[in-house]
Amino acid sequence: MNAVTFVIIGASGDLATHKIVPALFALFIRRLLPEDFRVFGFCRTKMTDEVFRERLAMSLTSRCKNETNCSLYVGEFLARCHASSGAYDDVDAYLDLYARMAAVETAPEKRCRMFYMAIPPTVFSPVTRALGESGLVRCGDAEHWSRVVVEKPFGRDRETSDQLVAEMAHVFLESETFRIDHYLAKELVQNLLVLRLANPLFEPVWNAGAVERVDIVWKESKSLQGRAGYFDTFGIVRDVMQNHLLQILALIAIEPPGAPTATAIRDAKVRLLKAIRPLTPADVVFAQYDEGVHPVTQEMIPGYRDEPGVAKDSRTPTYASVRLAINTPRWQGVPFTVTAGKGMDESLTEVRIVFRKSGTPLFPDAAHNQLILRVQPDEAITHVLNVKTPGLSNALHQLPLNLLYKEHLTESLPDAYERLLLDVLNGDRALFIRADELAAAWDIFTPLLHACEANPETPLARYPFGAANVAE
Ligand code: BG6
Repeated sequence: MNAVTFVIIGASGDLATHKIVPALFALFIRRLLPEDFRVFGFCRTKMTDEVFRERLAMSLTSRCKNETNCSLYVGEFLARCHASSGAYDDVDAYLDLYARMAAVETAPEKRCRMFYMAIPPTVFSPVTRALGESGLVRCGDAEHWSRVVVEKPFGRDRETSDQLVAEMAHVFLESETFRIDHYLAKELVQNLLVLRLANPLFEPVWNAGAVERVDIVWKESKSLQGRAGYFDTFGIVRDVMQNHLLQILALIAIEPPGAPTATAIRDAKVRLLKAIRPLTPADVVFAQYDEGVHPVTQEMIPGYRDEPGVAKDSRTPTYASVRLAINTPRWQGVPFTVTAGKGMDESLTEVRIVFRKSGTPLFPDAAHNQLILRVQPDEAITHVLNVKTPGLSNALHQLPLNLLYKEHLTESLPDAYERLLLDVLNGDRALFIRADELAAAWDIFTPLLHACEANPETPLARYPFGAANVAE
């Protein structure tokens, strides 16, 4: 593998400290990084290499629980981590970064560079522009590549997303742009196509003839934990629905791709997204949480509007439930309901495929079969079946066939970021969002968001923090 320098822009933030660098460290321990690599953290705060390393050290050790020589690995890894600082839009700051990199890199002109944008979306464009002007990016060099990794949200709607895509395209080719959706790297999500297509049991019933409805449920019991400024600008739909949950829906509903390649899978997703009817206010329920009791700590949590950083009259939804219709022969008439809520009773991501009742006159009491895919916590695939009540009764009863992942694992599953960073290194784009896919996803949600945001009368239900659901 070529020598690589990872440049993390926004290196003092939580994402860099708690996700990106620990994921690089985990890959390092498993010997999956190139022999010759460097990590450069760039941020506005001035930091020496030593201070940067001290900050990182605290979040690394958890990744090598089972390793005997953990401190050796940590020391070896941190010795390759460096800091550089400056304003995000300052070309000179990137020239200074380049000089620092060149001082420690072997053959700087022959290295690959991965630029990770761990920064607020408002500065994606200025950073990309300054990077381009500084000459740090070698656009189009397939051997000594430059690749950029961007976190969502990509824009606020179709128009702003298109603008961002166009601005970034001045500096990086589409093939060098990796738009992360970390849900695509979650084990159960990666398993969706395998489950469906490698097991002949499922494909024959994967259609409107057998499926009555599909529910995708996402809940989080956390409060905003310092992210109020970001969340209040974007809201629940842009935060998790237009991206994470729509991606799960797409993988459930796509037609089988022609090949297991990034292009074929993403082509199939784009076709599916284009077949979804754009949403209108009639398809949605919005809600916002009030004060309530935290389900785990039992602390009283202030209402959303009383969170520091949230406007007292904010109408940003913390909960939304939308009903999507997919206009393909396979899914004609099958509602896909996607529900997402912050400040709920538990943290859970689950897909429930509810099958039609059997219709046999022999067992009129047979209930719906359900296939439940639990993405988190505790990955599981459960098939709820009708069985005869065990014992002397002939009545029907429902029991689950349960595949609990943790019962079959010898070691813990890698974090989504480990898989994603490895894929960027290998140039595998299957788990990243292509520009046309992004545009198709925004086309579904933009009319709804615009209509609701233009109308101050848009209904906004209320629920107490810690609620199990919201009355619709
Ligand atoms: C992020 C959202 O993309 O995903 C957060 O911005 C959310 O609001 C997070 O909490 C959830 O990710 P995970 O992996 O913890 O389920």
